[in-house]
Amino acid sequence: MRRNIDMENFSYTETQDKFRNEILNGLKENPKHLLSKYFYDKKGDLLFQQIMKMPEYYLTDCELEIFTEKTADLANAINAFDEPFDLIELGAGDATKSSFLLDFLVKQNADFTYMPIDISGNIIEVLEDRLALKIPDLHIVGLNGEYFEMLDKVNEISSKRKVILFLGSNIGNMEVEEAYHFCSELRQKLNPGDILLIGFDLKKNPHTILQAYNDKTGITAAFNLNLLTRINEGLNADFDVNTFQHYQTYDPLTGACRSYLISLKDQMVTIENEKIQFKENEAVYMEISQKYSLDEINVMAAKNGFEPLREISDSKKWFIDAIWEVV
Ligand code: AVI
Repeated sequence: MRRNIDMENFSYTETQDKFRNEILNGLKENPKHLLSKYFYDKKGDLLFQQIMKMPEYYLTDCELEIFTEKTADLANAINAFDEPFDLIELGAGDATKSSFLLDFLVKQNADFTYMPIDISGNIIEVLEDRLALKIPDLHIVGLNGEYFEMLDKVNEISSKRKVILFLGSNIGNMEVEEAYHFCSELRQKLNPGDILLIGFDLKKNPHTILQAYNDKTGITAAFNLNLLTRINEGLNADFDVNTFQHYQTYDPLTGACRSYLISLKDQMVTIENEKIQFKENEAVYMEISQKYSLDEINVMAAKNGFEPLREISDSKKWFIDAIWEVV
């Protein structure tokens, strides 16, 4: 069964205006900042795929190991065989990791519908076609739009128990306070007994973490700098990308791994009709990739209306998929 639900009232101008306003507002603030959600245009998607293949970037391999080696544990942890449920994946992308769980659940005759949510309609269509070939018996309903709006839609069309997947340490790209807010908002859309399976990158040797975001090949640098190119193309701007340099930090006390772009000279950049002044060595804050301890993760669950049931980790214990039940 296949059905695709598109977000209503979605217009190109609306997203273009939002992009323009968020970019300009961030660059007018002190300190300047840009939003990493805008890294992912066509070129950014390709660069992120390259990042995931880098030997330094351990996160993807760790979580893939969990989904390939501990599939039965995952299935049991989400109570997959008790009653029918909706398996909703936030930011499904190409579902590389989750497809191992989907395949396992279908083979074990679990009664569920897979509902991938992604902001990119194109990704949802490609995913539906790919999964229809790979796992023909899978029931799939693709949802194209923002996470919380699409969750409202799911609640309108189905009253089954919900299992939410939020993988890949995407929660790490929020400040801790934002992550709390996100979990609490998500909790409001769920009911007691529903489950959240959420991927966290753990605090570990600081060198290991820093190297994952500071590769010598410069792919992560290109990933950050690509946002300037995107602004040049989308907002008729004149950033000279060669005059900005990627700078990465990791603070082992707070677990915050942050990226910046440093202006290498005094310069003025025009974005549409606005002029933005950069001082030599001025930093533009780009992205956080927050790392957590297990205790911090459990506190986050408890403070936002979830009970941590268990966590499943890779063999190095560098990454966990935490399973939280709504209370
Ligand atoms: C998508 N997200 C979880 C990645 C991360 O690890 O924070 C994005 C990324 N940024 C630089 N490298 C990877």
